[in-house]
Amino acid sequence: MDMQEKIKFGDNESKSHEGDTGPNPGQECPFVGEESTRVRLMLPDADPSSRVTMYSPDGHGTIKIFDGSAQDQYDHLLENYTPSPFKLIYWDPPFFTGKQQEADFGSFSDNWPDLPTYLNWIRRHLVRWHPMLEDRGFLVVHCDWHAGHYIKTLGDQIFGYDNFRNEIIWHYTGRRQPARLRVNAKHDTLLVWAKSETATFNPIFEPWTRDEYVRMKKQEVHRDEEGREWIWGHQGKGQSHAYRIYLDEVVARGRAIDTVWNIPIINTSAKERVGYPTQKPHALLMRVIALCTEPGDWVWDPMMGSGTTLVAASQAGRNGFGGDWNPDAIRVVQARIDAAKAF
Ligand SMILES: C[S@@+](CC[C@H](N)C(=O)[O-])C[C@H]1O[C@@H](n2cnc3c(N)ncnc32)[C@H](O)[C@@H]1O
Repeated sequence: MDMQEKIKFGDNESKSHEGDTGPNPGQECPFVGEESTRVRLMLPDADPSSRVTMYSPDGHGTIKIFDGSAQDQYDHLLENYTPSPFKLIYWDPPFFTGKQQEADFGSFSDNWPDLPTYLNWIRRHLVRWHPMLEDRGFLVVHCDWHAGHYIKTLGDQIFGYDNFRNEIIWHYTGRRQPARLRVNAKHDTLLVWAKSETATFNPIFEPWTRDEYVRMKKQEVHRDEEGREWIWGHQGKGQSHAYRIYLDEVVARGRAIDTVWNIPIINTSAKERVGYPTQKPHALLMRVIALCTEPGDWVWDPMMGSGTTLVAASQAGRNGFGGDWNPDAIRVVQARIDAAKAF
């Protein structure tokens, strides 16, 4: 704890933003609170002078790592990039857990004086993300029950209620305990807004079996002359028995995803674990990126933590820009990228 230094939030976070063209930049959050102080980890071997490090793994997308706060990234991007460069901003902020988040190779504070202070901070960032997105771009905010419902209302104020696309539930397994006060909480929430109505997802399919399909349809299965299995498809009301659905084709196509994503959490012995607190699974980010972007697009993760988004983006042929104000995160990401010559 002696290496920590208190910094005033306002120093980094509440500078005025020339060029901030969010739709409601002057509108105040209904939960406005006081500017807060917050603990920042200062580790001796961080290099404050080199702010952007670039990686170009062979055959994959470029990765740029920014050593600094989300506010500084925003300023840097406004100065150095074309307007609205990002197809996707994936934002995984501290969740308002009231804890110091700790793991083997890092630590960050998620302690706040109160909910209004936290929400005011969230709102200030949402206002910044909006102008940085392409017209066909998406914002994904990763949150949970601590503050997710309030974040939804803030995001709607800035992106527009009609541009809200989905509430995705990332459901994971883990130890469950019988409890009287609260049922085991085993999901996070991904709130997805589009910048405009022109933004479209890439359809994603997941594998399923013949038996799962048959169980869902609850229909008699027939066989044709060649032995292929099929069931009746219906073309709408009063149009029963209109056409045949072949089961092998259904299985080969897979099943379109819905809003509940079952993806295992990174457990203590998982190979992908890098030891940074709250690291998100690679498979989760691969899916978000596949859903919202095309090869060659730019993705921004302004609070990248262990850099899961950047690694996934690059592997998927997208370009990733990410940053964090925590030197632990910068170190972990650099080590992760060096080790991932397995790209
Ligand atoms: C929930 S973690 C992100 C985890 C990440 N998605 C992963 O897979 O490892 C949140 C991160 O936000 C960072 N952070 C908090 N406030 C920040 C700020 N104002 N600017 C930049 N980073 C910030 C923390 O240091 C922490 O690494």
